[in-house]
Amino acid sequence: MIKSFGNKTKVAVFISGRGSNLKSLFYFSKEKNSRVQICVVISNKKNAKGLNFAKKYNIKFKIYTFKNRFKDELKVLQILKKKNIKIICLAGFMKILSKEFIKKFKGKIINIHPSLLPKYKGLDTHNRAINNKEKYSGCTVHYVTPKLDSGKIILQKKVKIFKNDSAKSLQKRILNHEHKIYPKALKMILN
Ligand code: GRF
Repeated sequence: MIKSFGNKTKVAVFISGRGSNLKSLFYFSKEKNSRVQICVVISNKKNAKGLNFAKKYNIKFKIYTFKNRFKDELKVLQILKKKNIKIICLAGFMKILSKEFIKKFKGKIINIHPSLLPKYKGLDTHNRAINNKEKYSGCTVHYVTPKLDSGKIILQKKVKIFKNDSAKSLQKRILNHEHKIYPKALKMILN
């Protein structure tokens, strides 16, 4: 459980690409009585599509390549401290955070993963689920620990795999559910 100070809990969202989960988190933060404020977006890609959204809605953003992870993590930590960030939401962030960084934000970093964890950790989850003839896949919001995609599960949604599903069609269907469960999970850990 994360204690919120004052009215709203300050959140940072880390992205690398499209940013559709960033959008859903942001819209959620703008709902009436929301207790969340998205204060900054961190991207490791200067061309991440999600940054256009941040610009459009005047959300502060910072770009760090993470090529020198140690240095960039220090800079990110400074910003998070300055902005009094209490929770980090990883939303398609394709860099692995160091053990030290995760330790500094212990229990306060969450991630969305496009599979029914603990199945299909890592990349290419939809192809792997289809190739293994799974009947279901889904998405999971979980706490981030140094072990990839292995932290405690907060919320999951099971999604049926249809016979004629391609990785693309399955990805699209699951993504719709991601947009619902990520804000819901964030709300849950604030209560
Ligand atoms: C999502 O499928 C998420 O589960 C995974 O990366 C993708 C990010 O998509 N971790 P988007 O950038 O939020 O649209």
